[in-house]
Formats: sequence, C-alpha cells, structure tokens
Amino acid sequence: MAPSTAGAITLNINGEKHTLPVDHRTTLLDALRERLDLTGTKKGCDHGQCGACTVLLDGRRAVSCLQLAVAAEGREITTIEGVADGERLHPVQQAFLDLDGYQCGYCTPGQICSAIAVIEEHAAGWPSAVTGDVRPEAGAPPLSAEEIRERMSGNLCRCGAYVAIVQAVARAAEAEAEAADVDADADADAEEAA
Ligand code: FES
Ligand code: FES
Repeated sequence: MAPSTAGAITLNINGEKHTLPVDHRTTLLDALRERLDLTGTKKGCDHGQCGACTVLLDGRRAVSCLQLAVAAEGREITTIEGVADGERLHPVQQAFLDLDGYQCGYCTPGQICSAIAVIEEHAAGWPSAVTGDVRPEAGAPPLSAEEIRERMSGNLCRCGAYVAIVQAVARAAEAEAEAADVDADADADAEEAA
C-alpha cells in the first residue's frame, strides 16, 4: 500500500488553534490562504524571493511559501491579521499608514511582518551585514536608513515605495522605544511606591 500523503494537522495561528486535513506537501502559505481564508498573507513569487508571504513563526520572520504547513505544527504563527491589538493598530501598521509606506499594498503585509521582527532583532542587539562594529560590547547600532534597508532587503516592492517604507520602519522603531521607556518608568515608580 502506498504511504499516505495526507493527514490532519493543528496550526496555532494568531492565538487560535485550527485543525485541518492537508496534503503533507501543502505549503504554509497555501494552507493560510486557500484552506483558512487568511488572505492577508500574499503570494508573489512562490519561490522565497520576494517576501510578500512573510509571517512570524515564534516571533521570527519566515517566508511561508518555503515552509510546509506540517512543519509549522506546534509553532506560534502570526499573520498580518493577528498583529493589531483589537481595534488598535500595531505601531508598525500605524507608521505605514501615517507615512504612506505603500502604493498598491500588495507587498505591505509581508513588509509589516518583516518590520515587526526587524525592530525586535535590532532591539535585541543583532547585527546586520552593514553593521560596522559587531563586537557584543558595541551594543546595537543606530537603526539608520542603511540598517533598515539591509534588514528589510528580503521584502521587494514592485511599486518602489521604499523611501516611505524605510521612514515608516524608523518611525515605528522610535514609537516602540518610547513606549518601552514609558513602561520602564511606570515599573520603576510602582516599585518605589511598593
Ligand atoms: S511568495 Fe514567498 S517569498 Fe515570494
Ligand atoms: S506597495 Fe505595491 S508592491 Fe509594494
């Protein structure tokens, strides 16, 4: 008897569990779009080269067209549908809106998912290919336009909205850093009062 190439899998997407039968050769991108109707994640090249299908897997960015759905079982999958906090947009979404970081919008969900991870990677001190001093004691480099361009280089935009995309990522990184400072101050005040 030929081995079965299908079976049921459970995917944890945006905090919700979805159990679905799939052919084991189904990509995560096709499972999201064709099986679960999560069409915010876009298919561009289907070959891992454009970034349109970027999602977050356990907080790290991944191109979902190169990921088998079965391999994503047990991981926390975040798609563009899951990045906002209810009605409140994620700071990266807000910055893309405020600064017109798109034209047709087709690449935008992937750009936003990538940017969310880029800001976290940078805040965690990860160097990029253009970071001058990569010694751990040097700390995170400033998130310059050059750093953003390099870190976002896996996400192509056929409309060429790159100038505004870079500005939006920088604006969102600033907003998140300010929010982190406010939280830290509030924690310190609470500790002092205790
Ligand atoms: S569709 Fe996945 S990288 Fe282009
Ligand atoms: S906004 Fe059209 S492809 Fe990027």
